[in-house]
Amino acid sequence: MSDVTIARATAHPNIALAKYWGKRPFGHNLPAVPSLSVTLAGMRTRTEVRFDAALAADTLMLNGAPAPAGALARASGLLDRVRAEAGTALRAAVASDNDFPTSAGLASSASAFAALAMAARAALALPCDASVVSDLARRTSVSAARSAYGGFAALRAGVEGDERLAAEPVAPADHWDLRVIVAVTTEAAKDVSSTKGMQHTADTSPYYPAWVEDAPRLFAAIRAAVLACDLEALGVAAEASALRMHASAIAAAPAVVYWSPATMAAMATARALRARGVGAWSTIDAGPHVKVLTTAGDEDEVVQALQATPGVLRTLSTRPGPGAARVEGP
Ligand code: DP6
Repeated sequence: MSDVTIARATAHPNIALAKYWGKRPFGHNLPAVPSLSVTLAGMRTRTEVRFDAALAADTLMLNGAPAPAGALARASGLLDRVRAEAGTALRAAVASDNDFPTSAGLASSASAFAALAMAARAALALPCDASVVSDLARRTSVSAARSAYGGFAALRAGVEGDERLAAEPVAPADHWDLRVIVAVTTEAAKDVSSTKGMQHTADTSPYYPAWVEDAPRLFAAIRAAVLACDLEALGVAAEASALRMHASAIAAAPAVVYWSPATMAAMATARALRARGVGAWSTIDAGPHVKVLTTAGDEDEVVQALQATPGVLRTLSTRPGPGAARVEGP
């Protein structure tokens, strides 16, 4: 192998319609519940990985600045797996850029680790099909497994003895022109990471076992609604998945509360839109932003209503997009 090998990849965040929240207790970063997401066009991560014999340690630049130690440690963990598979000890310089707010509940870790997994494998000439990229990304961040795929992707719950676990495609991006309007409520990073929030929920919330038991039923309803392109069925079940996930976290001791007043206001906007016959259902990840599911026909009305909502700073309009991909050329 030469002294320097470089590859680049892009990946897009995904929004879970059926939420993942909680890990199996037997290690290997296996999810306790099945999840299903839509990978979004309109926001993207671009990552370059340079394995270089001149480097003494891995480095990570995020949006042009050195990354915090925790982010570098997670990236190095992924790189260690790739090095072990390729039989090399070369260290890597990683540079990753997002065109959307990082670590504020906009699923930046999903697109980050999917892009890193693909670029690192490509740089070491390892196979780069979506399934191996998904499994590798999942070991670092479960939601990242789904961003390996475009369109709609599902990840089953882990079971004891799982050696590998990759997401699976449910439907391609052009299956359904669903619109997802992101109501951005802060530009700041979140206080409690998903990893910590879900572990604390599992450890202390009396509602966590109920969440784990109930989630597979909602997952099945969400999968059927996506396959049928049925927005109302999807919206009802996706909103329930988000609210039950957050209910389990809010019931932890001490409570894990990701919502701000603007989160509540944006959810109320979606309810008010529905009351006037506009198809709009909300979902919320581990942060204060609200993502509203709607149709192409109702998109403008939803955007206007969200922009007029107190505490909503701006909106991003997204739709189903592509999976992780290599960027060829210099
Ligand atoms: C609320 O995938 O970030 O966005 O596996 O510990 O890295 P780790 O957690 P992460 O959790 C995402 C949680 C969520 C719901 C979801 O994306 O399914």
